[in-house]
Amino acid sequence: MNICIIGTGYVGLVSGACFADLGHNVICIDNDKKKIKKLKKGIMPIYEPGLEELVRRNLKNGRLKLGSNIKEGVKASEIIFIAVGTPSKENGEADLTFVENVSREIARSMTSYRLIVEKSTVPVNTGEWVEHIIRVFKRNKAVPFDVASNPEFLREGSGIEDFMHPDRIVIGVKSKKARAILVELYKGLNAPIVVTDIKSAEIIKHASNSFLATKISFINAVSNICDKAGADIVEVARGVGLDRRIGKEFLRAGIGFGGSCFPKDLAAFMRISDNLGYEFGLLEEAQRINYNQKRLVVKKITDHLWNIPAKTITILGLSFKPDTDDMREAPSIDIISMLRKEGARIKVYDPEAMQKAKALFKRDVEFCADPYRAAKNSDCLVVVTEWNEFKDLDFKKIKKLMRQPIIIDGRNIYDPGRMRKLGFTYVGIGRR
Ligand code: UDX
Repeated sequence: MNICIIGTGYVGLVSGACFADLGHNVICIDNDKKKIKKLKKGIMPIYEPGLEELVRRNLKNGRLKLGSNIKEGVKASEIIFIAVGTPSKENGEADLTFVENVSREIARSMTSYRLIVEKSTVPVNTGEWVEHIIRVFKRNKAVPFDVASNPEFLREGSGIEDFMHPDRIVIGVKSKKARAILVELYKGLNAPIVVTDIKSAEIIKHASNSFLATKISFINAVSNICDKAGADIVEVARGVGLDRRIGKEFLRAGIGFGGSCFPKDLAAFMRISDNLGYEFGLLEEAQRINYNQKRLVVKKITDHLWNIPAKTITILGLSFKPDTDDMREAPSIDIISMLRKEGARIKVYDPEAMQKAKALFKRDVEFCADPYRAAKNSDCLVVVTEWNEFKDLDFKKIKKLMRQPIIIDGRNIYDPGRMRKLGFTYVGIGRR
């Protein structure tokens, strides 16, 4: 089928390349001409495992095309995906300016039936607004169209895997025609398809992410009880997660969640419920616990270092999670800012996010080429992101390099007994 995807961010580019790989003709449109120029040369704007190869392969076989002109995309495709950014406003609400602008552009370009699909995460009722804009701005009043919602559930670092093997596909439609088109589009994935109305589909996305974020805050809250009681959160999570009604996923206690989705979607869902007249206190608590988790980690550091100003602290991991270079809402940002306020000297290392981190931290921290240089003359080593390469460091060497052998394991990736045997003061999150 012929598809146009507007917006080549994490969602748009991964979805476009995957649709092309499934055999569809895809044209990805972005108004960032520089980004499109680089993409045409096979240079990725984001670090996402497997994406470069997928894009190059489908550029080569001609199924994936790139452009900057919405008109061109709308002319060539019956299905138009809106995958533009919906950033948070000051009050946490999603900013839908780009969605409105793109909807207007699509309307002006339509000369025959088009199915306009919301792929970006949008608040409930956005579908109605998109329909209104299309109806108002389409040049030929007789041109038929449908609007649908098709939220994505792609995790950064496993976007292609999550697209090709989804737990479920959610489509919110108003017409049989729209339903038939989207069921046909996704049939190659053989995944369960939830067909519902547009509003329910929009809420499924926010409810899913908010539940996952709440699940993480729940286990983080329990980790604080384990800290105080002398129990072990990893054991507790194992015992809890074996209940198939709970499930073991997203029960890893640590520094808390970051990224471009959970913080934003949690805030947006809270605003949506406020605006609808329901106070979603549970989500406010999930947000509060998440922020406090970072403060608790800083307290663990300062509790073990006495006077901070004369101390050097090593931060291992800057991206918000492993296998991505994404620094959006990364816990490392707040943690480093809190430690700097206490006067600490900060040395950092991350396998992929250094470039993006340099733009953020500038000269406020010392960027080191590897974990060992980062550990040199350090009073405390803090694991903030659980990159695999931190799991088997040469700790004998690390211990010699450090001024004091103190490890704060913000993601519980080490075995407390092993680290203590190696002579480290080991502090985990809710570890015995
Ligand atoms: C999330 C959702 O999973 C995905 O469905 C949605 O489309 C986009 O947002 P993403 O943010 O890319 O994906 O990463 P994810 O793997 O979900 O992790 C989100 C955050 O939660 C990360 O900061 C991670 O460190 C944290 N996390 C995750 C935990 O702290 N504990 C866990 O057990 C799992």
